Amino acid sequence: MLHPAFVSSADASIPIRLVTKEGWDAVAAELPPGARRYAEATGFDGKPGSLALLPGPEGELAGVLFGVEPGEEADPFEVAKLATSLPDGVYGFAEPPRDPALACLGFALGTYRFERYRETPAKEVRLVLPEGVDGEELSRIAAAVAMGRDLVNTPANDLGPDGIEEAARRVAERHGAEIRVTVGDDLLDANLPMIHAVGRAADRAPRLIDLTWGEEGAPLVALVGKGVAFDTGGLDIKPSSAMLLMKKDMGGAAAALALADMIMGARLKLRLRLLIPAVENAISGSSFRPGDVLRSRKGLTVEIGNTDAEGRLILADALALADEDAPELVVDFATLTGAARVALGPELPPFYTKDDALADAVARHAREVRDPVWRLPLWVPYGKMLASKIADTNNVSSGGFAGSITAALFLARFVTNAKASLHFDIYGWNPAAKPGRPEGGDVQAARLVYALLKERYPAE
Ligand code: BES
Ligand code: MN
Ligand code: ZN
Repeated sequence: MLHPAFVSSADASIPIRLVTKEGWDAVAAELPPGARRYAEATGFDGKPGSLALLPGPEGELAGVLFGVEPGEEADPFEVAKLATSLPDGVYGFAEPPRDPALACLGFALGTYRFERYRETPAKEVRLVLPEGVDGEELSRIAAAVAMGRDLVNTPANDLGPDGIEEAARRVAERHGAEIRVTVGDDLLDANLPMIHAVGRAADRAPRLIDLTWGEEGAPLVALVGKGVAFDTGGLDIKPSSAMLLMKKDMGGAAAALALADMIMGARLKLRLRLLIPAVENAISGSSFRPGDVLRSRKGLTVEIGNTDAEGRLILADALALADEDAPELVVDFATLTGAARVALGPELPPFYTKDDALADAVARHAREVRDPVWRLPLWVPYGKMLASKIADTNNVSSGGFAGSITAALFLARFVTNAKASLHFDIYGWNPAAKPGRPEGGDVQAARLVYALLKERYPAE
């Protein structure tokens, strides 16, 4: 099914001409005199991001000029600004943009709006897909991202651990995947003690969502996503300013679920296991406490230095479970640390892996599909900062240096059998709108991993 922003062909469409500042004079010379005078009189000069709506002889909208960055390094998503600034209509590129597929994807992603609580008047800006662009593929990706954004944007009163489960069930049903969910005290019988400990204080029970799909015998890829429906910080409670945005603490689960949706939709030749530990880090008489020692699934004992470092606890049990099958690759996504934001800001999630060739592949795909990430080191000597006097490890580092790295080192202890692993410490949120990336919840790092997996395990 095509994305509502796309049309595959049209009898008539309004042409969009992409213009650079340097190329403007040449384009201007080709325009009908009236259109040219109008563009110049209204100040259009081809500056990146500038827009001119050109009148035809009857005053109708006859064409669009849009200023773009020159050169190879320009962002193909820049045309996504058109998705929010053009009046209703059906448009087509007069000549294909530099990266037609990404430009169209950016356009579709740019039309996203979160309308669960307040509808805005429907806009109908449509784009005719250029020749050779796979509209179905782009539509699947855009739909997966929109689903993930909806989940992040939905506040915790309407999306608890149970709501995350429902979302996963919908995705499983769509693709005929198997899904099993372990809820509440059953987590103890299933030996997932840290997921239970973090989530047990909440009225909505903690759970592990376990989705599997694909042919037996195909290479196994495991995805894990942090699904903290809301993070109060637990007993080491967050200050109000830090708690305000914590509905997005299931952004890792949203990214992993969106990625699973892309993989299954494209029928990649792999076997998929998606694990989402879904909990609410709440406060009540049954909260886990600072100083508690938890025995993890893997057997390592973990002293709780801070109940606000809850993500790594639930991920540790889920990663240990994923690791038991010795997958080719295990990938986790998590809104794990504030330290990652201090280091790299909201637009550039750090990633971690021991595998240099894999890191290079991740960086290349990130550039190619404009899903930016940046490698940080699993700096082994910092592991000592996690030392506990009474248990195998603490859940937080002393001193607070290198918080994203020590969190990654903590997780790495629970993955010992997988052939390779990747960890993304994402933010999951756009503080301000950018082309193709509206303000609010977002799916980070999923499209790049999809591109990597598509290259490795292409559908027949
Ligand atoms: N969910 C937070 C991390 C977070 C905070 C992500 C803000 C994005 C924006 C996580 O559970 C957390 O609270 N981490 C603590 C860890 C600390 C207690 C070692 C943090 O980063 O402050
Ligand atoms: Mn926390
Ligand atoms: Zn958290």
